[in-house]
This record gives sequence, structure tokens and C-alpha cells, in this order.
Amino acid sequence: MASLRGANALTMTMRRICVLISGRGSNLEALLAAMAAGTLGGAVVAVVSNRADARGLAIAAAHGVPTRVLDHRAFAARDAFDAALADAVDACAPDLVVLAGFMRVLGAAFVRRFDGRLINIHPSLLPAYPGLHTHRRALADGARIHGCTVHFVTPDVDVGPIVAQAAVPVLPGDDESVLAARVLAAEHALLPAVVRWYCAGRLAVADRQVRVAGERADGDAVLAVPRPDQ
Ligand code: GRF
Repeated sequence: MASLRGANALTMTMRRICVLISGRGSNLEALLAAMAAGTLGGAVVAVVSNRADARGLAIAAAHGVPTRVLDHRAFAARDAFDAALADAVDACAPDLVVLAGFMRVLGAAFVRRFDGRLINIHPSLLPAYPGLHTHRRALADGARIHGCTVHFVTPDVDVGPIVAQAAVPVLPGDDESVLAARVLAAEHALLPAVVRWYCAGRLAVADRQVRVAGERADGDAVLAVPRPDQ
């Protein structure tokens, strides 16, 4: 992990962010774009994937961010993978760990180790549609509003304290892929915003409620993405 520790010295003065991915990496890309634009308020110092073929690894490399692959299939037990992953994450001394399309459920020991500095982006308006196939389920229910959520991670999956949400309409004629693309665009706005707030020290959790310091009365932590034709 020496290369991760040796990441850009400039990052020493900024909040250090470790991003965990499993695949496409478009949310990672949104974070890196914000970082390049100077609006993230922190530095992505490492990207860790449980899959060697994750497209996000190339995105990280293109931005000069060190990467590490830890294949869960190489571990006999879930706990052993979690422990190795926790060590890999700790090696980059992160202030914040972001699950951005990381498709493994992390056990309680991992979650406790990074308690309060572990966030996830989920493609639904939680508490609706925890788990998988969120867009398909929203369409099947005839939902008219759908969206995404960034939340702190707790040992129970997809139920941690909600930081912020972005809502999108479900439009007549939507299919799963059209709706997924609309939600994904909202994710790309929401996740960098939450990371920026975290890095600025604006987030506090008490009794499962997240307070965003300095939030406007009309709610910074609720993003309504415009309809496609507006
Ligand atoms: C996103 O929809 C995210 O909400 C979910 O997994 C997907 C990851 O997409 N957790 P990407 O890898 O960031 O493109």
C-alpha cells in the first residue's frame, strides 16, 4: 500500500477520501470531476475495487488516483474479506470512505471501524426500495417520483441516517434504462454535494437524524432535478 500512502502531498492538507467501487464508476467520475474543478473540498486519494474488471479503475488511473483491487473471491469467508478491505482502506488514512457502486454487503465490524465516516449512494428515495432493482420496482409500483439517496452506512443495509436526496419524475413511457439514466444524472449531482458538505465539516448525526450545518430553510439537502424538457 506504499503507493497509496505516497499520494500527492497536496492532499495532506485536504480531507482524504477513499472510494470503493465494483464496476462502471460513473459516480467516482463525478467526484473526480468535482475534485478537478476544485469544488469537492477534499481529495480522492485511493480507489479500491473488489473486481479487477471494474471500469472505474481506468477512470481513477486517468485522474492519477492510486487504485487497489481486492477480489472478494480470493477469501474463504466474508469476514476475512472485510478485514483485508478494512486494512486496505485504513492504509490510505481516509477522513471519508465513499461506497460508490460497491456491490458487496459490508459486515458490522467493517462498518463500526469507519463509523461516522462511511457513506453510500443508493438509487432510490429511501426508505423506499432498499436493495436491488430499484428502478424496475419503482416502475412496477407505478411510482411517479423516484430518485437517489446518500446516507451514512450502518450495519443494516440501506437504512443508515439519510444525508440528502434527489428526486426525479417517473415519466409516461419510461422503461428501466431510461429511468435509471435519469436517476444516475441526479446521483452525479448529489454525491459530490454531500462529499463537499462532509469535507467542510457541515454534517452531524444525532438520533439517526443528519443535520447539515448552514442549510437553507428551503433545504439544501433536497435536490429536485428538472424534468428533461425544462
Ligand atoms: C449507482 O446507481 C449507485 O447508486 C448504486 O450503484 C450504481 C453505481 O454506478 N449504488 P456507478 O458505478 O457509479 O456508475
